[in-house]
Amino acid sequence: MKNNQNTIVSPTKILNTPLQLSNLLSLTIFFAFGLCFGILLTFQLKNISLNLRFNEFSLTMPTTTAINTSLPVPEEKGLEDFLHPIKIMHDMNDQELIWRASMVPKVQNYPYNRVPKVAFMFLTRGPVLLSPLWERFFKGYDGLFTIYVHCSDLSYNLTESEHSVFHGRRIPSKEVQWGKVNMIEAERRLLANALLDYSNQRFVLLSEACIPLFNFSTIYSYIINSSQNFVESYDLMGPVGRGRYNRKMYPTIKLHEWRKGSQWFEMDRDLALEVISDAKYFPVFQKYCNGSCYADEHYLPTFVTKKIGLKNSRRTLTYVDWSKGGPHPARYTRNDVTTQFLEKLRNHNHCEYNGRKNQTCHLFARKFTPHALDRLLRLAPKLMQFDP
Ligand SMILES: *[C@@H]1O[C@H](CO)[C@@H](O)[C@H](O)[C@H]1NC(C)=O
Ligand SMILES: *[C@@H]1O[C@H](CO)[C@@H](O)[C@H](O)[C@H]1NC(C)=O
Ligand SMILES: *[C@@H]1O[C@H](CO)[C@@H](O)[C@H](O)[C@H]1NC(C)=O
Ligand SMILES: *[C@@H]1O[C@H](CO)[C@@H](O)[C@H](O)[C@H]1NC(C)=O
Ligand SMILES: *[C@@H]1O[C@H](CO)[C@@H](O)[C@H](O)[C@H]1NC(C)=O
Ligand SMILES: *[C@@H]1O[C@H](CO)[C@@H](O)[C@H](O)[C@H]1NC(C)=O
Repeated sequence: MKNNQNTIVSPTKILNTPLQLSNLLSLTIFFAFGLCFGILLTFQLKNISLNLRFNEFSLTMPTTTAINTSLPVPEEKGLEDFLHPIKIMHDMNDQELIWRASMVPKVQNYPYNRVPKVAFMFLTRGPVLLSPLWERFFKGYDGLFTIYVHCSDLSYNLTESEHSVFHGRRIPSKEVQWGKVNMIEAERRLLANALLDYSNQRFVLLSEACIPLFNFSTIYSYIINSSQNFVESYDLMGPVGRGRYNRKMYPTIKLHEWRKGSQWFEMDRDLALEVISDAKYFPVFQKYCNGSCYADEHYLPTFVTKKIGLKNSRRTLTYVDWSKGGPHPARYTRNDVTTQFLEKLRNHNHCEYNGRKNQTCHLFARKFTPHALDRLLRLAPKLMQFDP
């Protein structure tokens, strides 16, 4: 019982003792003081943590913005923009363009799956006259070719539909005069623009009056697998050959090195790089191949023979008929286009291809007028086995 009471009354016992009264008073004071201190402290701490948070905020904000502006990570797409230049128009002048295009990667292995492409370069006055035929030719082969159009009539507006393979493929162009050295400047411009795409491995020069003689897969294999370049080159005596040599070109170019050949070439990337980078022979042509010299028939045949010799087949892949004589080749119009005629162009002769005899000498032919288009569209897809 006593024990029980003792345990229950124990706090009252403290209150009841006079000595414990002062204890209670000091306890109360202590408690009040503690309470005040606690309230003050909480308030202070709240302030401090607010300040801290504010400081944290004002410290982190500029850091993130700085990272966002100095490292535009989302806009970087690896090598994408570099490897697949979509926009073809640029504001580089010829000198800037050629310098930019002449760059060669020192690392030999490509860090991506490089599918070699053939660059089809159209040197035209106005529109590509036979474009509907080319549209059929290219259909279904995206990723294996690129198209470039140098249109020397600067006032002409190319107005292909958005679905056309020629849409937006016009490069920054300049005036070109027949037989003048600015024709070579245009060819170099085409090569340089095409070299900007690192996937382009082979380069074909065509005119608005050219047609293909085979389907895409045949032409692609023939060109891509060739161990040689196709720049026609021969030594011709007489007034239209060596007679066009200018003595002032000596000693950079000697008379026995002077060559003639067709303007319509096909070459690989290495040779294209040599051509645009030529700062030795081309200036001599610019200076001394004027008047009745016809740089387009002599510059590349002479330069390529000097530069690569037998790595060049010395023949052209583009059929042209000069048999009628005169300064211009034969033009084919509607009535010329028959199955027999096209077959004759396709299996023309005996040529050497990769060291073997081959009956396919020409992959392209010119000159065809727009009047021939109807018949070509009717005959060619079946004859040349275009994809349906
Ligand atoms: C930084 O950029 C990324 C990606 O655009 C964006 O998600 C993020 O909100 C940006 N940060 C700031 C603080 O603007
Ligand atoms: C080409 O387009 C421009 C602007 O749209 C126009 O001023 C010019 O007359 C056009 N040229 C031709 C030949 O149609
Ligand atoms: C392309 O033409 C060749 C004959 O020159 C033919 O063997 C081949 O099947 C044709 N290719 C396609 C995809 O039709
Ligand atoms: C030619 O190239 C094609 C790719 O278009 C390839 O499949 C074929 O094996 C090559 N042929 C030869 C003989 O190298
Ligand atoms: C060719 O150009 C040179 C140097 O610019 C000049 O002296 C010469 O008269 C020109 N010849 C012709 C036929 O225009
Ligand atoms: C000519 O070369 C092409 C490409 O390699 C080949 O497909 C064709 O069979 C060759 N023709 C002859 C007659 O050797």
